[in-house]
Amino acid sequence: METLGTETAFEVLAKAKALEKQGKDIVHLEIGEPDFDTPKNIKEAAVKALHAGYTHYVPAAGIPELRETIAEYISRTRNIDVDPDEVVVTPGAKPIMFFSMLALVNPGEEVMYQNPGFPIYESVINFVGAKPVPIPLKEENDFRLDPNYVEENITDKTKMIVINSPENPTGGVLTKEDLKAVADCIANRDDVFVLSDEVYSRIIYKGKHESIASLPGMKEKTILLDGFSKTYAMTGWRLGYGVMQKELAQKVTQLMINSNSCTCAFVQMAGVEALKGPQDMSARMVSEFQKRREVIVSGLNNIRGITCRKPLGAFYVFPNITGTGMKCRKLSEYLLNSAGVAVLPGTAFGQYGEGYLRLSFANSVQNIQKALNRISGAFKNL
Ligand SMILES: Cc1ncc(COP(=O)(O)O)c(C=O)c1O
Repeated sequence: METLGTETAFEVLAKAKALEKQGKDIVHLEIGEPDFDTPKNIKEAAVKALHAGYTHYVPAAGIPELRETIAEYISRTRNIDVDPDEVVVTPGAKPIMFFSMLALVNPGEEVMYQNPGFPIYESVINFVGAKPVPIPLKEENDFRLDPNYVEENITDKTKMIVINSPENPTGGVLTKEDLKAVADCIANRDDVFVLSDEVYSRIIYKGKHESIASLPGMKEKTILLDGFSKTYAMTGWRLGYGVMQKELAQKVTQLMINSNSCTCAFVQMAGVEALKGPQDMSARMVSEFQKRREVIVSGLNNIRGITCRKPLGAFYVFPNITGTGMKCRKLSEYLLNSAGVAVLPGTAFGQYGEGYLRLSFANSVQNIQKALNRISGAFKNL
């Protein structure tokens, strides 16, 4: 257990809640979930499914109707041919990280991953006894990975490369050229897999989402991870999936049998409605996020000691706070305790996150303004 990490967001949330219990007013910019309600048609589909008897065990890899719907959705959006047998439905997308590494990565092998990045990758890499090989993301490169770095650091022991675009925590988005360059690095390596975390694929502010799985020869090497949490404001429902070659899908299904038996039956039927029903609510959420992005980026840039790039996707900003001369952990604690604003230190996402904070703008403009005023006030006392 000592090798297993955690997600700081949940720890900061607990601290913030404890302060609220003492009567303090906290603005929550720490947790990564849409503040919108799940669209009504999706909720109604779940209720209908409950009444229709979707209250029992279902197949471990997912209800056939949902696997077919996902296969059709991924085929259409990624321009590849996905068979329902290549889809495994899981309680949230997160288990796909855990299961794919358990299934593929042996102790002593190496896994490359973006840093700063979602902390669970590094946690699971360590847990399976593999060596984490961070790919530093640089602000001056708009937080996109440098394919040359990937090429230079691949070894005979590399088993997996984890990429995430749009990225948590930086909002960086990989271009088709970036993805092509990564694919080229492993063109001669059938033993290397790519775990492509695409949970923010629909939350993008400019251009369109590109998937490495769409590139020639890459579908078989890719585990595409996606889900419903972010796109449809369904974080608490726990519904996600992985798309991967059939043989691996069978192994991941075996891990599902050993851990969960299956994903909640009526939630899966709500997932069918989410993908097949009207998409206007999710498009509206994105345009709302876009407005908030403007507010938070310009507000942060007006505070002395902070500079902030405009994220291209997801709903996070990753401002540079080196101008304050403070370490990010100290600064985030100061903001929580003195200003009542809960944010995360950049190092919650790995060592290359020092010098940054992560703020989620999945909160109302009013709350974002309140947070900005408080941060600005607190900075005057630094
Ligand atoms: C990059 C990334 N991948 C995956 C997840 C997990 O999503 P889910 O709720 O579907 O498990 C998150 C959640 O914050 C995330 O930021």
